Amino acid sequence: MISFTGQTVVITGAAGGIARETARMMLAAGANLVLGDLSEAAVRATAESLGGDAGRVACVPLDVTRPADCERLFAEASARFGGVDHLVHAAGIFPKVLVQDMSLDQWRQCLAVNLDGSFLVCRASLPHLREGSSIVNIASISGQRGSHSHAHYAASKGGLISLTRSLSMELAPRTRVNCIAPGIIDTAMAVDLIATRGPGYRDQTPLGRHGRPEEVAGAICFLCSSLASFITGETLQVNGGINRS
Ligand SMILES: NC(=O)c1ccc[n+]([C@@H]2O[C@H](COP(=O)([O-])OP(=O)(O)OC[C@H]3O[C@@H](n4cnc5c(N)ncnc54)[C@H](O)[C@@H]3O)[C@@H](O)[C@H]2O)c1
Repeated sequence: MISFTGQTVVITGAAGGIARETARMMLAAGANLVLGDLSEAAVRATAESLGGDAGRVACVPLDVTRPADCERLFAEASARFGGVDHLVHAAGIFPKVLVQDMSLDQWRQCLAVNLDGSFLVCRASLPHLREGSSIVNIASISGQRGSHSHAHYAASKGGLISLTRSLSMELAPRTRVNCIAPGIIDTAMAVDLIATRGPGYRDQTPLGRHGRPEEVAGAICFLCSSLASFITGETLQVNGGINRS
């Protein structure tokens, strides 16, 4: 029921676990893709791993903390495919440090990538988004319930949920803006967390396991699709039922 044929999707953090599965699903559903991440080699490797029609995939090296990089990402998308239908903003970092040990630089670095970067990517997309377009930002369950040893990360994701709601008001009705709040998802980002606190979180999760990246990708595709045509400003929980308060 979901088709992105003829539509163009820009994905940040594209070499990461959740974004890669999103790219795979969107390509299979007919989309043109513009993939951005820090390392050009990693993005190219991701693109090659997707299979499919290479002519429908563009790769752009990108640091989301740099305004010029963000603008170039969308300029290349428009130059190659004529405009942008969906933005999936998944780039992020998950540093671990207690507040009592956290330097101002560590705090700022996390906010710079996760929150400033979200602002810069979303802002850069605006001149390129077509009628009926959508943005999906990847926040986190920690944006609502906080996270031990990750206060800066949790603050950045809480800010992203709020940015998403505000943007949904400014961009309606042309563009819907939503976010996903994943629980623990089995990707490179969560390896340390799963190793140290995984069993405890699993016990708190009614579905009794951690999530898989393709399960987040499915929710992202839904929010971008016409099936979600009356949903904007929303945060969709993808967390196996774990209590988020
Ligand atoms: N895995 C989880 O348990 C989980 C839970 C909640 C939220 N999330 C969020 O989902 C999103 C995707 O995470 P993932 O699990 O796929 O992690 P991941 O580490 O596999 O992917 C993150 C990607 O972001 C890229 N990135 C980091 N800094 C960047 C920058 N400055 N510019 C451009 N790209 C940059 C990385 O290179 C990496 O490829 C993130 O925003 C993360 O915070 C993940």
